[in-house]
Parts: sequence; structure tokens; C-alpha cells
Amino acid sequence: MHLEQLSIIVAVGKMGVIGCGGKLPWKIPDELKFFRSMTVHGTVIMGRKTYESIGKPLADRENWVLTRHGDSVDNSKGLLHVFSGKDEVIRRIRAAAPLRHFWVIGGREIYEKFLPHCSAIVCSEIFGDYAGDTYFHMPDAFEPVEKLCENVHFVSYRWRRRKE
Ligand SMILES: NC(=O)c1ccc[n+]([C@@H]2O[C@H](COP(=O)([O-])OP(=O)(O)OC[C@H]3O[C@@H](n4cnc5c(N)ncnc54)[C@H](OP(=O)(O)O)[C@@H]3O)[C@@H](O)[C@H]2O)c1
Repeated sequence: MHLEQLSIIVAVGKMGVIGCGGKLPWKIPDELKFFRSMTVHGTVIMGRKTYESIGKPLADRENWVLTRHGDSVDNSKGLLHVFSGKDEVIRRIRAAAPLRHFWVIGGREIYEKFLPHCSAIVCSEIFGDYAGDTYFHMPDAFEPVEKLCENVHFVSYRWRRRKE
């Protein structure tokens, strides 16, 4: 059911805002550094819209992109793994070496689809007021267990699934 090696990583503003017009609502270099430090050398799993907003594969990570229209994603350099559905992604994670870590990096649609399979969420709470049109709300099934990073712009916690 839940995969120990699968986590969500998300940055959330007030009222759960995560995106605005297809982009991040904020520009916070320290949060991007934190994101990199968590995900580097792992596998990042994202929706086609998030991949397009990033604009290129993330370095030093295996990049998995979900789309129902495989030819809409330029993979001419062969740097991406393109998937047409969640089931194949889950199957590949189950088959992977146990110490490998997989990060669901968004956006909203992909968080929603993979949440039932994740054992942890790394969430940066962004300070300040940012408008947006895309949201993520921390599910009741998770509780914060560890503060990972804190500065004037954001605080990050690791959340774990509550024991059933
Ligand atoms: N704050 C954060 O931490 C954070 C992180 C990531 C993203 N974001 C923001 O979130 C927004 C994007 O989120 P979004 O929900 O609009 O888009 P998204 O989740 O990034 O991508 C949605 C796309 O993923 C594909 N997809 C979804 N479910 C699928 C399935 N079961 N099988 C195959 N493909 C599937 C579809 O692509 P096709 O249409 O090609 O079929 C769908 O249009 C942006 O504003 C972005 O900046 C914020």
C-alpha cells in the first residue's frame, strides 16, 4: 500500500497555495536549494505541466514525467522517463532497489494521485502573502515529526503518516 521509499515534497503558501498561472507563486532561492538538497541523487516524479514550468530535466536526479500524450513532451535527449499512467510508475518503484528514494514533486494533480501511496511529506511553509490558483492541503492522515530547515522565508517539516 504505502511505499516507504516514496515521499511528496511541496512548498505551500497561505491557504494552501502552491501555484499561480502555471508557475510557482514566489521566487525563493533558499527554498529551491532546500528542494535540491532533499531530492538530489533520487528520482523526481512530476506531471507534464510541472515539467513544462521547470523547462528542463532537473540535474543529478532521474526525471520521471507523467503525460497521457507522450509525444507532447520533448525527450529527444533521452533524459526523461515518460509514463502514461500511475500504475506503471508504482510498479517501477516497487521493483527498484530498496535504498533508492522517489520524490513526488507536483503539481496538484500528481500530488493527489500519489498521496495514497506516500509514506511521508516534506512540506515547506512559505511566509508572506502570495496569490495563486493551484492548491495543496495537508491531509489529516499525516503529522509533523521533524523540523528540517528554518529561515526568514520558510520553515520545512517532515510529516509522516499517522499510525492507523
Ligand atoms: N509549490 C510547489 O511545491 C509546487 C510543486 C510543483 C508544481 N507546482 C505548481 O503546480 C502547478 C501545476 O499543477 P497542475 O495540477 O496544474 O499540473 P501537474 O500535476 O504538474 O500536471 C498535470 C498533467 O499531468 C499529466 N497527468 C496527470 N495525471 C496523469 C495520469 N494518471 N497519467 C498520465 N498523465 C497524467 C497530464 O498531462 P497531459 O495533459 O500531458 O496528459 C496532466 O495534464 C503549477 O503552477 C506549478 O508551478 C507547485
